[in-house]
Amino acid sequence: MVRLTPDGEATVLSSVVHSQIDDHAAFGGVVPEIAARSHVEMIDGVVRRAMVGAGIGYDGLDGVAATAGPGLVGGVMVGLGFGKAVALARGLPLIAVNHLEGHAVSARLGARVAYPFLLLLVSGGHCQLLEVRGIGDMSRLGTTIDDAAGEAFDKIAKAMGLGYPGGPALEKTAEGGDGSRFDLPRALLGRKDCDFSFSGLKTAASRLAQTCETDQDRADLADAVQSAIARQLSERSDRAMADYAEKHDHRLFVVAGGVAANRTVRRVLEATADARGFAFLAPPMAYCTDNAAMIALAGAERLQLGLVSDIDAPARPRWPL
Ligand code: KG4
Ligand code: ZN
Repeated sequence: MVRLTPDGEATVLSSVVHSQIDDHAAFGGVVPEIAARSHVEMIDGVVRRAMVGAGIGYDGLDGVAATAGPGLVGGVMVGLGFGKAVALARGLPLIAVNHLEGHAVSARLGARVAYPFLLLLVSGGHCQLLEVRGIGDMSRLGTTIDDAAGEAFDKIAKAMGLGYPGGPALEKTAEGGDGSRFDLPRALLGRKDCDFSFSGLKTAASRLAQTCETDQDRADLADAVQSAIARQLSERSDRAMADYAEKHDHRLFVVAGGVAANRTVRRVLEATADARGFAFLAPPMAYCTDNAAMIALAGAERLQLGLVSDIDAPARPRWPL
């Protein structure tokens, strides 16, 4: 639950996240049927805990925001259907929110952020550079031509036997590692666009994973992988900053999405932004990975602009920004 003042100050009143990681870990990744069933089982309780946590009843709501995609459609349909039921029963406006738009505004949950800004959105499903001019007003400057950065973390961690989800596990394994002995490929170096590619890194690192024998080997490889991913994110963001700076005087670089929780990634990107004369911002750790507070904020911003949805808004497995 989020409150948004007319002048744009956001306060998180409550944030409840039910993680399904334990349900999926045994399978090494997300199982769509389990995900959908778990949404059905948990949604009542999660919503109730959010309302109690905020100390607000249905009468205190101004609107209901729900994720309408993109993503595994079973879970999306459960959340959107629940949101529609509350909106209809209470006569409240419904705001169908794009999950990516939620990530795009998530840094605003921790600080006042003025539009426009340059955004690196790095999650398990996406890796994009976006010019964000306002809610519902964004254009894409670059994207991945194969895997997303989070996907690269997850797949390499799996090849190293680190379990699921791979990003946090790999970050932990990299502590005390020295990756300098590994020479991992650097993709798209020197290219003039702002696209990403992680498949070469994934193949090379997965092969090296087979040669790791000791914990130190694994720590060294994890460190090399983490640095290589951070370096590519930095190189491509640097390109985007150079282009962006030609058009905008307000120079702010924001990183968001699950991979923004990685401390090495944050540190390297902050240094890159600094060197380009950009202010740097990342969401508070709790709002990097998926959460409903960022969806509530995107909904509240849309509501302020009168951008409400029809009650028959569809759940969309694919929904580019
Ligand atoms: O945004 P998110 O929660 O879900 C999607 O929208 O995809 O991002 C999840 C992704 C996963 O790939 C996960 O491994 C990665 O973010 N991730 C991390 C870290 N925490 C989450 N990657 C690297 N380091 C982390 N600390
Ligand atoms: Zn996400």
